[in-house]
Amino acid sequence: MSDPSKFSGNNPIQINVPHKPTFFDPATIPWTEWVMPGTYFKLLTVREHSGGFSMLLKVDPNTEAPPHHHIGNAEAFILEGEFGYGEDDRGGVWTHSLEPGGAIHVADSPTGVIMFAVGDGPIVGYNDDGSVGAVVDCRLMYELAKANNAADHIEFSHHFSMEGSR
Ligand SMILES: [Fe+2]
Repeated sequence: MSDPSKFSGNNPIQINVPHKPTFFDPATIPWTEWVMPGTYFKLLTVREHSGGFSMLLKVDPNTEAPPHHHIGNAEAFILEGEFGYGEDDRGGVWTHSLEPGGAIHVADSPTGVIMFAVGDGPIVGYNDDGSVGAVVDCRLMYELAKANNAADHIEFSHHFSMEGSR
């Protein structure tokens, strides 16, 4: 077996190794209740520069998401079930969705769905009167997951404290 740390010949590039394993098994953490009834998530990564995050999202059958606003693009790949918007824009297993940044919509899932979702920014949820109910960014996701002992694998570059605050 060749030395995996070096390319062959005179190539000066050397293979390196990250500080933690590349792979993570989501089965090792529990589902955490999300911000809407009937929805659960497993946080996978956080994007401090944008407030976005990636997750596994599980939605119970007959769940309808209230109006929400995607600040950045949100992509999903469907692993189980299906969901969609009205009658003509729906996707099932092995389909990909792109909810573009700026989209404000509702979604429904009669069957329930499990998806891998990647968001480039926060999601804003609205109350019935149009007021903001929640801004779901990577920090909120982390706090929710941490309270459920499901965030030990998540790393932030920046940390904040109240000490020295003005
Ligand atoms: Fe959405």
